[in-house]
Amino acid sequence: MGRDDRASAGGKEILVVLCHPRATSFSHAIADRCARTVETEGLRPLVHDLYREGFDPVARAEELDRGFSFDEQVQRFGAELSRARGLIVVHPDWWGQPPALLKGWVDRVFRPGVAYDIAGGDGAPTATVPLLTGKRALVFATTDDLSIPATLEAVWRTGVFAFCGIPDAEVRVFTDTRGSTHGRRERWLAEVEEVVRATFAAGGRP
Ligand SMILES: Cc1cc2nc3c(=O)[nH]c(=O)nc-3n(C[C@H](O)[C@H](O)[C@H](O)COP(=O)(O)O)c2cc1C
Repeated sequence: MGRDDRASAGGKEILVVLCHPRATSFSHAIADRCARTVETEGLRPLVHDLYREGFDPVARAEELDRGFSFDEQVQRFGAELSRARGLIVVHPDWWGQPPALLKGWVDRVFRPGVAYDIAGGDGAPTATVPLLTGKRALVFATTDDLSIPATLEAVWRTGVFAFCGIPDAEVRVFTDTRGSTHGRRERWLAEVEEVVRATFAAGGRP
């Protein structure tokens, strides 16, 4: 897929998903900066604060078996994910992973028919069909660790996005968040702005 296809894929909307329980968190500041940068680029941020919206992260048997969700929040997220040009996820590192609420959001929203399909079965070889091809994905995570937990990149890049057709998702982790100065956080926010612009702007990175 060439640069022009990428730039036009999914219209003007960028889904911004924030998962941190504290409204004063640095994750909130990152998500705000993402949304403002997206707007500055003439795109439309669809911002969701999963804690504030009370998203239910529990995937239940009926929903998995039905292949369709009756939950309006899940339906809405699926529609937004399908039509958006791309996705930005912001979260803290909890035990080398995203918080459980965000994991549950992925479990329920990245479902067959939305993020991937499975072809074959019934004796025929199975193959997964990625459905998010052509979109861009960015993840920003904060951690108190002094180095980047390898698990975070593996979860997002390999486990989620490559499987769904986005092999070049970018995962930026800001380390030693607790020990960071105001000046360092300002520089991180400037970095967020730069990465968002480079990723989603028309004519951004190929
Ligand atoms: C349940 C929980 C688990 C956490 N696990 C880790 C961890 O495994 N490694 C780590 O460095 N920090 C861990 N933290 C600290 C968060 O990563 C840190 O507070 C956050 O990234 C800093 O951003 P904040 O000030 O906006 O919360 C954990 C925090 C909580 C609440």
